[in-house]
Amino acid sequence: MKLSDQFEQRFHAMINHYPTKRSVLVPSLLYAQDELGYLTDELIAEMAQRLDLTDLEIRNVISYYSMLTTQPRGKFNVQVCTNIACMLRGGEEILDHCKRKLGIGHKGTTRDGLFSLEEVECIGACSWAPAAQVNYDFHENLTPERMNEVLQDYRRKVHQQENC
Ligand code: FES
Repeated sequence: MKLSDQFEQRFHAMINHYPTKRSVLVPSLLYAQDELGYLTDELIAEMAQRLDLTDLEIRNVISYYSMLTTQPRGKFNVQVCTNIACMLRGGEEILDHCKRKLGIGHKGTTRDGLFSLEEVECIGACSWAPAAQVNYDFHENLTPERMNEVLQDYRRKVHQQENC
């Protein structure tokens, strides 16, 4: 497994910046996941060695953060919040709408590999509920119609990249 030079530069900058090695774990996992698509067994073993942690400690951290995954996901990971503020403002309707629209359930991935879908706990956007997060982007005050536009925008981005 080879991580990019950019990853290595970021990793060494963080290691020299933070007071403990453990502090760089989550950002390192996010950077690695951005490159690899998901957190492989090999990557986890590599991070454990670099940060003087056990594989189990790293897997416990991964299981806590919904942004991190040990399973391959679609290019765009759609995380719909159904926690209390979002639930009261239609979050479950948004999730059901995404399930129908994408033809997949919780933790599913579309056949074309474009979208994955997840029901998640609060993503910190309660004031703008109902909210969803797609990779690093937040989408707020959602309605089924607005969600259609959001999904369509991501599809359009991919088609534009393919045609460049
Ligand atoms: S409850 Fe949905 S963002 Fe907080």
